[in-house]
Amino acid sequence: MAREQFGICAEPNLHGTYLIFNAMDDKNAFIRQALSRIPTMFEHYADQFSEANLNGVVAIGANFWDEFCPDGRPKLLAPFPMMQSDDRIAPATSGDLYIEVRSDRADVNHIVSSKVVELLGDSVELIEQTRAFRYLDGRDLTGFVDGTENPQGRHRREVALVKEADDADFSGGSYLHIQRYRHNLKLWSMLKEKAQEDIFGRTKLENVEYASQDKPLTAHTKRTALKDDDGNSIEILRQSMPYGDMKMQGLFFVSYGRSPEPFTIMLKSMIQGDSEGHFDHMLKYTEAQTGVAFFAPSLNFLASLAD
Ligand code: HEM
Repeated sequence: MAREQFGICAEPNLHGTYLIFNAMDDKNAFIRQALSRIPTMFEHYADQFSEANLNGVVAIGANFWDEFCPDGRPKLLAPFPMMQSDDRIAPATSGDLYIEVRSDRADVNHIVSSKVVELLGDSVELIEQTRAFRYLDGRDLTGFVDGTENPQGRHRREVALVKEADDADFSGGSYLHIQRYRHNLKLWSMLKEKAQEDIFGRTKLENVEYASQDKPLTAHTKRTALKDDDGNSIEILRQSMPYGDMKMQGLFFVSYGRSPEPFTIMLKSMIQGDSEGHFDHMLKYTEAQTGVAFFAPSLNFLASLAD
């Protein structure tokens, strides 16, 4: 299998910078050269600041792929699955390129992000930059630990990476979905702790999962812990991080998968709910403001962009 970008399966970091760009017209040849050099740049700074656990990911937008890489497309690559039900909405927004820079030092992320922006120059327009951080012991700003049930160890690779047998030309790559959620923390803080816990299906302080029979059908973990018809777990690898300032707070949600399907199935279960109308009640307190689908190709594929 081709080598994957190390940031996809890496363990959580203390700081993250998420950059989204649109490509300018007639700059694809330049951008291909630039993207092919970014993994080496990540490696250089990872060596220089070895204690910072730096890693990154480069990804290409689903709607940009055919124009940018006309020689072939990952088999399952599809536009972001925009959906809506009542006032619950998952919008699709624009984004040709995605760069994720994560490390344990905000200054190192700043240095590396600046170098990425410098390298891409005026071939792109920066349309979104989100600086994210680890909050307390890995909690979302709602106060609940996020990432507990993420796949662990080698299983992360199985969940996140395209296998040779799936799609030989794109093995080692990963289907990526991002959504920037904005929380209504004022409304959230008006809920009693037990009501908040019922919304996640876990206890707040101790992060203990509710017994299955105690989980409301509207709990976030009930809506996202899903099985297929054969009883196999439907899984994604989440690399989300909280972001915010004194005006706006939320979660920069990041999902990697061997296929885009698990993410889409989960999002549908959250927004549209089950046949009895049980949707994810977390969505009463947070709203997705962006949604973009990308493919994060293997290191081998990125290197080949220079040819
Ligand atoms: C679980 C927060 C959006 C998929 C969790 C947990 C928290 C959480 C606190 C419980 C601990 C854990 O296992 O990580 C959030 C917040 C979100 C968000 C604050 C947005 C504002 C999403 C979305 C998806 C998703 C959009 C997928 C489409 C999952 C999955 C689990 C989970 C698969 C594990 C369920 C289990 O096996 O128990 N999330 N989440 N989450 N979330 Fe989310």
